[in-house]
Amino acid sequence: MNTFTAAALLLLLLVVGGSDVPGERTRVGCYYIGVKSERYGTLFPEDIDASICTHLFYLHGAINNETHEISLKPPSPNMKTGGEGFVPRLAKLKAVNPDLKLILHTVTQTDWLSQEHSRRSNIIQNGVKWLNESGFDGLELSALVYDLEETEKMADFICEMKNELDKFGYTVITSLTGASTSLEQSISKIARCSDHIGLVTLHQEWSTHRIAPMSMIIPNVDWFVERGVPANKILVTVPSFGLIYILEDPEDTKMGAGVNGPGNDNREMMGGFGIRNKELLRKMNDSSLGWTIRRDNETKEPYAFTTTGLWTSYEDTTSMEYKARYVLERGLGGINIVDMDNDDDEGIGGEGKFPLTRKVYDIFRQENQPVNTDK
Ligand SMILES: *[C@@H]1O[C@H](CO)[C@@H](O)[C@H](O)[C@H]1NC(C)=O
Ligand SMILES: *[C@@H]1O[C@H](CO)[C@@H](O)[C@H](O)[C@H]1NC(C)=O
Ligand SMILES: *[C@@H]1O[C@H](CO)[C@@H](O)[C@H](O)[C@H]1NC(C)=O
Ligand SMILES: *[C@@H]1O[C@H](CO)[C@@H](O)[C@H](O)[C@H]1NC(C)=O
Repeated sequence: MNTFTAAALLLLLLVVGGSDVPGERTRVGCYYIGVKSERYGTLFPEDIDASICTHLFYLHGAINNETHEISLKPPSPNMKTGGEGFVPRLAKLKAVNPDLKLILHTVTQTDWLSQEHSRRSNIIQNGVKWLNESGFDGLELSALVYDLEETEKMADFICEMKNELDKFGYTVITSLTGASTSLEQSISKIARCSDHIGLVTLHQEWSTHRIAPMSMIIPNVDWFVERGVPANKILVTVPSFGLIYILEDPEDTKMGAGVNGPGNDNREMMGGFGIRNKELLRKMNDSSLGWTIRRDNETKEPYAFTTTGLWTSYEDTTSMEYKARYVLERGLGGINIVDMDNDDDEGIGGEGKFPLTRKVYDIFRQENQPVNTDK
């Protein structure tokens, strides 16, 4: 039997069996930094549970604007990493999960990217070379765009890249930050030339808030769908870490209350405004702080505060489940969790290792795999 027939037969069996066709699964995108933290050490590639991810995004790609090479960002003082050495170690995770797709998340500036055609094709050729050598499966391009013209140039670049990467079966994902007028004109082109769009929702303000609340995710998704982006291409980005503040007035604990400063005495993450899930679980276990937990009635999103004036918003398995069900009901492509490093990698919260990621995986799996009706 030649391979074509075998493949066709396999597909038929899968369809007839109503089973899970890997390419059509709702995605669990696991972002990975591998950053070296003074207080927490490093989450090494081998520590990642690759069985609960469909895609693993390594967050260190950059395009060198002089050599036009796609490579890893050099470690910076506030981002010490395992560097090059992690790439082959990540590739070995396919032994754990053969369906795992490895994606290099690549940040770029747009202003120089699209000037000359030769530059663009150099970058793309170098990208193909990097993927081939690393054993990775695709690139995610993240570019901040501010005006219509730059966005259109970026869209053209993505299309050229997709044309080339398609020849080798590599994936192109574009990461975009929310709805914006500068995207309006080019969004359908970007969508056409991207296998998926990572949709980042970012809420920033100087008062108690949540980074990516459902109240912003939903209109964001709707904005993209209304402009012709196929829902199943959209990957909703959800942070696995929390925000933490010292309240201006310990009595004013509501969402949107005034804040005085960062609530994390460990300033490593976002200058003390960010807190790892694991670190938060430890803090919330300290009963002397007198925690009160409140939850949005509808979206189940939690926030919590202490009698001492600490305030935090975060995700837990309940709010993750709500988000995962929303993604399924809306027919979206999946969820990107940013990031594995900040999920509870030791399982100290009693819900297993990487509970936030695992919750999403479990909810999607229930949907992806038919219920076994034997017996
Ligand atoms: C590359 O980027 C650096 C830093 O942004 C800038 O100083 C330099 O002029 C750029 N070079 C080219 C060739 O665009
Ligand atoms: C990938 O690398 C192999 C050798 O490792 C080489 O034979 C092949 O031509 C390369 N493919 C591309 C597209 O560069
Ligand atoms: C919570 O506190 C209990 C009792 O002190 C301790 O046994 C447990 O390990 C703590 N859990 C976390 C997540 O810190
Ligand atoms: C949430 O539900 C509780 C109990 O049912 C109710 O008292 C409260 O008013 C609700 N809050 C909102 C914001 O709807």
